[in-house]
Amino acid sequence: EVSDLQHDAVDKGKYRHFMLKEIFEQPNVVAETLEGRVVDHQVYIETLGENATKVFEQLDAIQIIACGTSYHAALVAKYWIEHYLKLPCLVEIASEYRYRETAVLPNSLFVTISQSGETADTLAALKKSKDEGYLASLTVCNSPASSMVRESDLTLLTRAGAEIGVASTKAFTAQLVSLLLLMISIGKAKGMKSSIEHEFVEALEHLPHEIQLALDQAKELEKLSGAFAEKHHTLFLGRGQQYPIAMEAALKLKEISYIHAEAYAAGELKHGPLALIDKEMPTVVVAPNDNLLEKLKSNVEEVRSRGGSLFVFADKSANIQASNGITVFPVDSQYAITAPMVYTIPMQLLSYYVAVIKGTDVDQPRNLAKSVTVE
Ligand code: AGP
Repeated sequence: EVSDLQHDAVDKGKYRHFMLKEIFEQPNVVAETLEGRVVDHQVYIETLGENATKVFEQLDAIQIIACGTSYHAALVAKYWIEHYLKLPCLVEIASEYRYRETAVLPNSLFVTISQSGETADTLAALKKSKDEGYLASLTVCNSPASSMVRESDLTLLTRAGAEIGVASTKAFTAQLVSLLLLMISIGKAKGMKSSIEHEFVEALEHLPHEIQLALDQAKELEKLSGAFAEKHHTLFLGRGQQYPIAMEAALKLKEISYIHAEAYAAGELKHGPLALIDKEMPTVVVAPNDNLLEKLKSNVEEVRSRGGSLFVFADKSANIQASNGITVFPVDSQYAITAPMVYTIPMQLLSYYVAVIKGTDVDQPRNLAKSVTVE
C-alpha cells in the first residue's frame, strides 16, 4: 500500500522533473520540519527526549560526519555551533574519517547527517565511532527506517518526504533547518538566553516565506542559465557560512549538468585560483549582506579587473552595482542565521535550468545513484 506521501512523491504532477518538484516543495518542507518543534516561539524536539538533554548538558565538543550535500550541511552547522555555542565542531567526510586513526576530544557527540541513512561510508564511520569513546551518537536523517536511525542513540528526522531526484535539494534545506533546531536545543541545555532563541525562532518562522520569494525568481534564473550552458568551467565563491553554500552550488552544477565547477573560499583567490580567471569562465559569488561583505566586494573587483565575468547573488541592501562584466542577482534574505537556506534556492534553480538546456537526465544523472550503499 503506497502511502499518500510516497504516492505523492511518485507523481511528478505539473513538474517536468522530480528535482524541480522537490525544489518547489521546500517552503512546505521547511514548515513540516518545524511542525511541533517550535511551540510558542520555543524550540522543543520531543523525539530527542530527556536522555538527549543529559547528553547535551555534558557534551564539550561535536564531531559531524557526512558525504556530499550532507557534508555541506555539516559545514554550515559548524559555523553556527562554534559561533553561538562556543563548542569545537569538527566536520569530516565519512570516507576519510572511517579509514584513519582519529583522536577524539573528551565528551564529544558523534553526529551523522544522511538523507538516505544508508550511505556506506557514513554508516561505517558510525559503527567505528562506537569504539572511540563518544558520549553518544545522533543522526540527522530523512529515512526513519534506515540503518543509521537503528544504529544511533538519538535521531532527529528531517521530514523532507521522499526525495526522488538524485541531486539533493529539499533534503538539504531540511537538514539545515534540523541542524539549526539541534544547535538551539543543545544551546538551551547549556543555558542559551531565551532572547537568542527567540531571534532564531523568528528567522525560522519567516523562512518558508523567504524561500517562496526566492522560488518566485525562477523565470529570471532560467534566463540567466543561458550564460552557463555552453561553459566548461565555473567558479563559485563564498565566505563564512556561505562558503559551504558555494560548495553545494558547485556540486549541483557538476552532478546534473556535467559542467566542471568548483567552490573556493573567496579569501583564497589570490593564493592561486585567480590564475584561472578569464572572460570565458563564469565566477558566481554568494554575497549576503553580512560582516564579510566588504571583503567579498574586493574579491569581486579582483575578478572583474582581470576580465572575469561575474554573477553576484546579493541582498538588495548590499548595494553591489551591476556593471560591465558584473551581473547582480537580488536575493531577499532578512536574517543572517537562515541566509544559507535562502541563498541555496537560486543556486539549485540555476543548476536545474542549465541542466535542462544541456538535455541531461536531471533526475538520474549519469554514473550516480540516489544512495551510495557500496564503497
Ligand atoms: C547530493 O546531491 C548527492 N546526491 C550526494 O552527494 C549525496 O548528498 C551523498 O551521496 C550523501 O547521501 P546521504 O545524504 O543519503 O548520505
